[in-house]
Amino acid sequence: MSLPTPTPGARAVVTGASSGIGAALAEGLAQRGYSLILVARREDRLRELAGRLTTRHGVEAEIRAVDLSDRDARAKLCDELAAREIVVLCNNAGFATYGELAAANPDRERQQVELNSVAVHDLTLATLPGMMRRAAGAILITGSTAGNQPGPNNATYAASKAFANALAESLHGELAGTGVECTLLAPGPVRTEYAEAAEVPNLDRLVPGPLWVSAEKVAAEAIAGMAAGRRRVIPGVFAKVQTVGGQYTPRALVGPILRIVYRKVK
Ligand SMILES: NC(=O)c1ccc[n+]([C@@H]2O[C@H](COP(=O)([O-])OP(=O)(O)OC[C@H]3O[C@@H](n4cnc5c(N)ncnc54)[C@H](OP(=O)(O)O)[C@@H]3O)[C@@H](O)[C@H]2O)c1
Repeated sequence: MSLPTPTPGARAVVTGASSGIGAALAEGLAQRGYSLILVARREDRLRELAGRLTTRHGVEAEIRAVDLSDRDARAKLCDELAAREIVVLCNNAGFATYGELAAANPDRERQQVELNSVAVHDLTLATLPGMMRRAAGAILITGSTAGNQPGPNNATYAASKAFANALAESLHGELAGTGVECTLLAPGPVRTEYAEAAEVPNLDRLVPGPLWVSAEKVAAEAIAGMAAGRRRVIPGVFAKVQTVGGQYTPRALVGPILRIVYRKVK
């Protein structure tokens, strides 16, 4: 299996392209010759990235400043994408919250579910039929090692990423032999604006330096994984250990351990 050949009319869509893993995915896809549709809320960042990608790689880069947790704004984008030739979809935008659910801001928790789960589903539903008609396409879903097991004090994020992980791996199986691929990207700690967005500045100190991987490494492995038609990409040794630990440690043990760990995240 390989990625569809880039053509002038075709587009690769990257959500969460204004920073971190999404910006690196956009760079990697532009390097492979894909023209892009870059999605996030911060228009200035998208504009700057689009200009850079066009200059460096000679591709077209359109920007869509959309709050993907807003159902109406998202529906408009989905309608547009359903009508266009989308050959790659990187469902990557997301954020986390930490702390007790009972004390959380309900609106922010709902936004998290909308962005991390419902938007991923909606964008996939919008673009998959066109890919199937053309018998060519690749979908990447950025889940997380956090979605492999219960996450006390990180409950909404763990649940939303469990959805993303399961959707990606289920679709991978369903799409076998169709010419369309779906790959799960399930990272552990990646140095991005994630901790800042989650408002947990001490995450950096809790996770030792060598366990972090760069957004560039994650994106390079994700794109190589898509090109190879892989079911799942888990970048870095620590994320692989987290994955085995999360999936095979009895839940009666892993839940209380993570409760202690996540209580320290502030
Ligand atoms: N970093 C990690 O340790 C880690 C580990 C596992 C999984 N992940 C996952 O990786 C993905 C990318 O995160 P990152 O680490 O690259 O973090 P990041 O640097 O904070 O990037 C998050 C991206 O999502 C966009 N975004 C946030 N809310 C949005 C909204 N309502 N509508 C549209 N776009 C929105 C942000 O752009 P705007 O603010 O401009 O909208 C930004 O481009 C996320 O799904 C995250 O859960 C990260």
